[in-house]
Amino acid sequence: MTSNNNPYQPMPMRIARMSMETDDQSLMSFELEFERQEDQDRFFSLYRPGQFCQLSVFGKGEAPFGVASAAWEGDFVRFTVNKVGTLTRTMHAMRPGDPIGMRGPLGNGFPLEAWEGMNLVVVGGGCAFTTLYALVNHVLQPDVRAKYGELMMIYGARTPGLFMYKADIASWYDRRDIKFCQAIDVHQEGWCHYTGYVPDVTKEIGPSEENAVAIVCGPPIMNRFTFPVLSDLGFPPERIYLSLEKRMKCGIGKCGRCNIGHEYICKDGPVFTLAQLQQLPNDL
Ligand SMILES: Cc1cc2nc3c(=O)[nH]c(=O)nc-3n(C[C@H](O)[C@H](O)[C@H](O)COP(=O)(O)OP(=O)(O)OC[C@H]3O[C@@H](n4cnc5c(N)ncnc54)[C@H](O)[C@@H]3O)c2cc1C
Ligand code: FES
Repeated sequence: MTSNNNPYQPMPMRIARMSMETDDQSLMSFELEFERQEDQDRFFSLYRPGQFCQLSVFGKGEAPFGVASAAWEGDFVRFTVNKVGTLTRTMHAMRPGDPIGMRGPLGNGFPLEAWEGMNLVVVGGGCAFTTLYALVNHVLQPDVRAKYGELMMIYGARTPGLFMYKADIASWYDRRDIKFCQAIDVHQEGWCHYTGYVPDVTKEIGPSEENAVAIVCGPPIMNRFTFPVLSDLGFPPERIYLSLEKRMKCGIGKCGRCNIGHEYICKDGPVFTLAQLQQLPNDL
């Protein structure tokens, strides 16, 4: 939705800052600022971590991207974009000051109120870490942190150079209110954290399911192998959450591009429990 009530019309935004996140030059973060105050006010009155936006590069097209910032960080919206095709390559070649269109926030986001009073076990890998980063940053806010119990974050990447938001996440090791565990696939000299695939590392760490929810966002293969580990640890499917990525067009439940069974990933999701997914046809 935009301020003129036409849900297909993007809000005019401007690239304020760009920063390369990974050594392989594949993941670039964009901090977008609003051209119109009313759009900014509307966005932040609606936004919650776990939601996404449709970004449009004029003349090239539009695609969905998860929001990678928490509202308290400032008057901007961060996205981290993997360079995979036409639109994303064009975005990587853009410069601060360039215009860009944005529709959103879209989708349901994480059910933050339902999780209050519970321990959070956040498991992420690869470029899907973006919305988890927004979630953890939201929860670490001083006036929000007390609403939740223990916070554990397990974050995996193939190599140390492929972790995103390096400076910020390094500071999580200094905090007492988050247990932060990073893992790389294969050991490298100088690496002093976990080694192994995320499902194996999750098993090794063995987070308790007591009064806890698990939130899993990673490449499909990581998700698939992490679910049984969490189940073995005692997490019921109702307390395992996942954010789905599926090809989308409208992003607002109109075009039928993204549905699985009766659920529209763009409108009913992208965040689902494993229990909900188990009710859907197996075409994820
Ligand atoms: C809810 C949601 C959140 C997302 N969040 C992010 C994010 O935070 N960062 C990010 O980099 N990407 C994210 N994506 C994926 C992103 O939308 C696609 O990478 C993007 O559409 C590619 O556009 P393109 O024109 O560059 O690639 P194209 O030229 O259209 O395609 C290039 C390659 O990418 C594959 N691809 C395209 N779209 C998707 C998709 N939706 N899922 C899986 N593979 C796809 C194609 O099959 C092809 O192999 C998200 C997708 C969804 C649905
Ligand atoms: S993308 Fe159109 S219905 Fe979901």
